[in-house]
Amino acid sequence: MLRPIFITLAIAVYTAFALQCHVVPAGNLSVPDTSQRQECGIGSLTCVKVVDFTRGTYTKQCQTMNCTLNGMQNAAANCQNSSAFGVNGATCCCYGDGCNSSPKTGIVSAVGITLGFISLMKIMT
Ligand SMILES: *[C@@H]1O[C@H](CO)[C@@H](O)[C@H](O)[C@H]1NC(C)=O
Ligand SMILES: *[C@@H]1O[C@H](CO)[C@@H](O)[C@H](O)[C@H]1NC(C)=O
Ligand SMILES: *[C@@H]1O[C@H](CO)[C@@H](O)[C@H](O)[C@H]1NC(C)=O
Repeated sequence: MLRPIFITLAIAVYTAFALQCHVVPAGNLSVPDTSQRQECGIGSLTCVKVVDFTRGTYTKQCQTMNCTLNGMQNAAANCQNSSAFGVNGATCCCYGDGCNSSPKTGIVSAVGITLGFISLMKIMT
């Protein structure tokens, strides 16, 4: 029972010290994102991705806040669409290294990690 807890703790401590996010100051949605993860500054908690569907551009960066949702602080990872001033956009916020890659791979790897943890725990317990 102790080992999975230790591993989870170790990963939590590691990510707390060096969160890595994809950082793209100005990306083009029609060009695949080949950016590498970069180490975020101290105090970074989340990765974000802001998409402008109207212009076909996006940016990715580190954020020193937790994810928010409907004014709620410390929310779970989420994506929100918005349309203001004739601009259709989406803002995605997530926790964990490289989680702001592309929306699809983000979900896939999150599921993969979760399944990995479950099987790891089954093996060890
Ligand atoms: C994005 O890339 C496409 C294809 O290379 C190009 O036609 C388009 O002008 C670019 N858009 C922006 C906003 O740079
Ligand atoms: C982020 O969330 C964590 C866990 O809920 C909390 O301990 C921390 O104080 C929050 N940080 C900020 C800057 O809101
Ligand atoms: C947000 O808008 C985009 C483009 O209009 C759409 O493809 C996507 O499914 C929407 N996502 C959500 C969560 O509504």
